[in-house]
Amino acid sequence: MKVFNTTADMSSWSKTIRRERKKIGFVPTMGALHSGHLELVNRAIKDNDVVACSIFVNPIQFNNPEDLNKYPRTFKKDAEMLKALGCDVIFHPDTKEIYPEPETQKYDFGNLERVMEGRYRPGHFNGVAIVVKKLFDIVMPDRAYFGEKDFQQLAIIKALVRKEKMKVGIVSCPTVREFDGLAMSSRNMRLNTQQRENAPLIYQTLCKAKNMYPKHSVEVIKAEVERIINGNPHMKLEYFEISDTETLEPVKEPKPESPVVGCIAVYMDEVRLIDNMLFNL
Ligand code: PAF
Repeated sequence: MKVFNTTADMSSWSKTIRRERKKIGFVPTMGALHSGHLELVNRAIKDNDVVACSIFVNPIQFNNPEDLNKYPRTFKKDAEMLKALGCDVIFHPDTKEIYPEPETQKYDFGNLERVMEGRYRPGHFNGVAIVVKKLFDIVMPDRAYFGEKDFQQLAIIKALVRKEKMKVGIVSCPTVREFDGLAMSSRNMRLNTQQRENAPLIYQTLCKAKNMYPKHSVEVIKAEVERIINGNPHMKLEYFEISDTETLEPVKEPKPESPVVGCIAVYMDEVRLIDNMLFNL
């Protein structure tokens, strides 16, 4: 397995592979890999001739400096896991390599970026879109793999690919969960024992909300979610929305005929966790 730290080395490898008419699968990550990431890499290995994985903690997508500082960095362990799986390349640039100049680009994704994560993390999706565009330009993949846990990010990345007319197939992969239902996330590493014991309540609450839909009104379901989450001493609900899966527009009343997704963000003290569940599929 090769490790490239410069865009020049990464791109030159990709150009060689493309000249050989081989398909490149790409898994962009910020490291601190867990089984969810490894599923993406496995899927990419299955679908493509070669696989590249990037490990880059993207500073411009963090709206909270403390969250950026505390983001787990475990490169050595990540590299061992990727090698064992059969990943061909890791792209591991430093910040200056990706941002030689301060970034000024501003994307407009309309409503997609104004709700939920976009509302509570201003600038977050602009930072994600900028880095994903740069990574796609450097790695030149045929397909790129993203987890459905970041449901809104996935919608933004699909919109980015359309906007920029990039020839990259976006492959979405189901959320991978711990044995007790907690969605895998690099942030789970930051939970203490008590928080970790309580964290599956997020998944259980989504299951309950899914069961209530569409028999109960959106207002009643939202009130129940708030009651359960805020009733737990370790949790504070930031938002829960039931949204159209395409537009992410919050639905006001149950729409049994069109697919909706329940999306939730919860603070467990200073650790922020998100999750989602399709309600009528
Ligand atoms: O989902 C992530 O880990 C990040 O947002 C991504 C897509 C790697 C961009 O930094």
